[in-house]
Amino acid sequence: MARVSEDEVLGALKRVGDPARSGNVVDLGMITGLVVRDGNVMFSIEIEAARAPEMESLRLACEQVVADLPGALSVTAVLTAEAPPAPAAPAPADAASAPAAPPKQAPQFGRHGSPGAQKMELPGINAVVAVASGKGGVGKSTVTVNLAIALHRLGLKVGILDADIYGPSMPRMLGITGQPRSDGDKLETMQGHGIACMSIGFLVDPDQPTIWRGPMVMGALEQLFGDVKWGELDLLLVDMPPGTGDAQLTMAQKVPLKGAIIVSTPQDIALIDARKGLNMFRQTDVPVMGMIENMSYFHCPSCGERAEIFGHGGARATAKELNCDFLGEIPLHISLRETSDAGIPIVASSPDSVEAQAFMTIAEEVKQRL
Ligand SMILES: Nc1ncnc2c1ncn2[C@@H]1O[C@H](COP(=O)(O)OP(=O)(O)O)[C@@H](O)[C@H]1O
Ligand SMILES: [Mg+2]
Repeated sequence: MARVSEDEVLGALKRVGDPARSGNVVDLGMITGLVVRDGNVMFSIEIEAARAPEMESLRLACEQVVADLPGALSVTAVLTAEAPPAPAAPAPADAASAPAAPPKQAPQFGRHGSPGAQKMELPGINAVVAVASGKGGVGKSTVTVNLAIALHRLGLKVGILDADIYGPSMPRMLGITGQPRSDGDKLETMQGHGIACMSIGFLVDPDQPTIWRGPMVMGALEQLFGDVKWGELDLLLVDMPPGTGDAQLTMAQKVPLKGAIIVSTPQDIALIDARKGLNMFRQTDVPVMGMIENMSYFHCPSCGERAEIFGHGGARATAKELNCDFLGEIPLHISLRETSDAGIPIVASSPDSVEAQAFMTIAEEVKQRL
């Protein structure tokens, strides 16, 4: 079945009106951060915080019209409010009539975080580092898995948390099948190539699309961190969901991140996205460890020449310009895809190859910074 498109999603949302104003949610500019990916749809609905309690039904209506589209596998709509409510009317002078129940804190992914956003505690884990990118498809998961194995080869105890709940790739890339065991209280991690891993992909049947609602997304992520027996780890790499929306921002605020690594390709457009990713972490005071350029150049296996098909070096220049470290570059090579698809990433399957060595070099840089 054809997957749903952005235009179809916006078309459907135009049928939903804001009850308090004339016009539909799209034309009123209330829909932001729309992401449509392989049939999974996510967007925010901008509201005034004061109207939050009445907006839950609008949120549900928006989710419903999109869920009804053929080709929509999952829909997540979240309410966001830019600023605290401006009092609509003067506060009642009569103390007896106040305070009524405070308005429910609806924006689960509030742009500036919920006031009490507390960082989770993850005892036993020495450092949590996010691997992020502004957009999908730049090779974030490929880099995460190979970097993890490279660091393991350097003697570190490494885990991967696959936080990409819409498109988990770690079970496939690490070649892990089956379901994690539970000790009644916590889930055991799954192991592949010496890496401890947890992914929503182990828990959700890939053929049974899950409908994620806003709060469920954060709930699922918190559980993947907190309800898992990670054991002692030198480093937990987090394969972040793509984008720089509220879910990512909330993650950056809630998880005690030691740092972030930004993956980018040399194309300009991806670099613009990389800048957004970088700024997001800076906003939340998470130090950016550095940038990695993926699909940087093509290493021709027959002649040994380097061909710089996308105009290589963009990430290095951007990193310099943005005052952030450049950790290294990974060539574009079919073997990277084939080995990841086969569940034996290149650093595990051909550790001596040029491609694997590129990851080893970056791993040394990362290790130093831990
Ligand atoms: N350096 C590379 N050379 C060749 N193929 C790559 C490389 N990096 C990633 N790929 C391929 O590109 C696709 C997207 O990579 P993936 O790691 O899933 O990206 P993301 O996690 O950012 O969405 C995958 O098919 C992957 O195998
Ligand atoms: Mg990925």
